[in-house]
Amino acid sequence: MSPELRNLVRLLGRRRGRYAAGAVFLAIGDGGQLAVAWLIGHAIDAVGAALSGGPRPDLDRYGLGVLGLAMMVVGARFAWRHLIFGSSRMIERDLRQRLHDHLQSMSARFYLRHKIGDLMAYATNDIQAIQAAAAGGMMSGLDAVIQGAGAAAMMVVFVDPRLAGATLVPLLFLPPTTYLLGRQLHKRYGAVQAAFGTLSDRAQENIAGVRVVKGFAREAQQAAHFGEANERYRSLYARMLRYDVAFDPAIDLMAGLAFAVGLGYGGTLVMRGDITLGAYVSFNTYLAMLVWPMLALGWVMNLFQRAMASLARLETLFATAPDVADAPGAVALGAARGHLSLRGLTFRYEDHLPPALDGVDLDVPAGRTVGILGRTGSGKSTLANLLPRVFDPPRGQVFLDGVDVRDLRLDDLRRAVAIVPQDTFLFSRTIAENIAFDAFAGRERTHDEIVAAARLADVDRDIQGFPAGYATMLGERGITLSGGQRQRVCLARALIRDAPVLVLDDCLSAVDTLTESRILAALGPYLAGRTTVIIAHRVSALQHADEIVVLDDGRVVERGTHASLLAADGEYAQLYRRQQLEAELEHAPAVGAGA
Ligand SMILES: Nc1ncnc2c1ncn2[C@@H]1O[C@H](COP(=O)(O)OP(=O)(O)OP(=O)(O)O)[C@@H](O)[C@H]1O
Ligand SMILES: [Mg+2]
Repeated sequence: MSPELRNLVRLLGRRRGRYAAGAVFLAIGDGGQLAVAWLIGHAIDAVGAALSGGPRPDLDRYGLGVLGLAMMVVGARFAWRHLIFGSSRMIERDLRQRLHDHLQSMSARFYLRHKIGDLMAYATNDIQAIQAAAAGGMMSGLDAVIQGAGAAAMMVVFVDPRLAGATLVPLLFLPPTTYLLGRQLHKRYGAVQAAFGTLSDRAQENIAGVRVVKGFAREAQQAAHFGEANERYRSLYARMLRYDVAFDPAIDLMAGLAFAVGLGYGGTLVMRGDITLGAYVSFNTYLAMLVWPMLALGWVMNLFQRAMASLARLETLFATAPDVADAPGAVALGAARGHLSLRGLTFRYEDHLPPALDGVDLDVPAGRTVGILGRTGSGKSTLANLLPRVFDPPRGQVFLDGVDVRDLRLDDLRRAVAIVPQDTFLFSRTIAENIAFDAFAGRERTHDEIVAAARLADVDRDIQGFPAGYATMLGERGITLSGGQRQRVCLARALIRDAPVLVLDDCLSAVDTLTESRILAALGPYLAGRTTVIIAHRVSALQHADEIVVLDDGRVVERGTHASLLAADGEYAQLYRRQQLEAELEHAPAVGAGA
């Protein structure tokens, strides 16, 4: 057995009890159908005997028998559908959960290398392919075997083995035909779906971006761009249809051939008196019941092949272990004091890229504040993200309380380091739920705690101003916060954690300078005794830090206190003077308005 098949069998095997019970009911249903055919044959023979002077048959009993069997078939069908389709949905649910949980365990680096759209394809296409095999594939496969074997056995035992053999020959062409045609059809269907994806992407982009399109007078070009995708979809669809329309006639031809053989040869056998007329009628029903299993086999093989390929893709994904994980024998941290140190920290996002950080040394004693300044792309966020191991720093370069962060238990490290990331992601939940998002407390945050954090972040007043206050929904189903409001909600979300180390990655860039200074001043008592890393573009935000580091191109180019950096009259001092001037202009009376 190939490993792909083994994996699929193991997956389906988890629900073997339900599948086995489903197979029993399938057998009951198929048996009922075969019995109906057999009973009808008998009734015809009884009628025939009566016509040639025999006793009058009790046709009511035949009728009741057929009715009883039909009811049994219906009951059995209900049971097997429930059992087999139900287990396929369980398999699907379990896989989807496993995929979700696995993706959650993956690191930021993993997401640099995999596009969200590609990952979503696992959740839709691949899981769907497996579900199709677990439902339709298993059902048709089991049914084909049971019904096919049953019908063939009835032919051989109750009718005539020679007749059975003769009609089977054309039917043997059915499985390879449906298999090959089905494969082609699927391949083309995949192309059609991809083309439709492109088409809807383009439509969506043009509609969402309609203001830009109009603003740049691009209507005609965008229409042509869309038209191209539209035509491609049509032509691929037409190509698929060619296989689709070939499907039914090919099958009808082979089934028709089998019936023709049955009719000719079977009729001869009746004339010769080898079989009865009733048996001949029953035979035609058995034959009809044999066509579907032969058809199904090719189709089922396709379904299983697709499911095997999809499962193999999923298994490969499941086999990628999270690269940021607890080292063997990781150390528990206990209550962190918050002494941070970086020793020659050098970090590249990819081996072939230049370093985003290059030999950065930094020592922040517990409870102190360090300010990090630097132009865009200088490596500030990179540094911030390496502290709680969003990305793994190299060993021996980042330490918390003297322990290499790579050797700390991840849970403990992340509990100790609260970060306000530069990108302000909020969930489509209430504001209160967003602020109380962390799970470190091991309990629900109280409303008072939430309000206290919001006050510290200076967003309480804004929140009170919304009609639903803290219960206001955010995102698609709710309101949209301004950039500055988002940033302060994110700040509150970090402050509520009460962590010994706080990292603020440019988290007030969207509020004005004065508000930023006011918020930071009000945070003073909260920050006392905590280790704080403040990243900012504005000198005013970090001039009170115990040490200020200026980064450029991943390297520390200046360091010192506000006073010493001003005295050194380097880049920091220049920046300070420029920003001072800007602030003065901002607050000076508008030209022409005074005097
Ligand atoms: N995910 C990534 N993959 C590859 N390179 C990256 C990635 N993120 C950042 N970089 C690169 O690393 C360097 C530092 O980026 P970083 O985000 O740390 O800058 P920053 O100082 O925070 O800038 P800003 O002030 O704009 O936030 C940049 O050259 C950037 O292009
Ligand atoms: Mg940044």
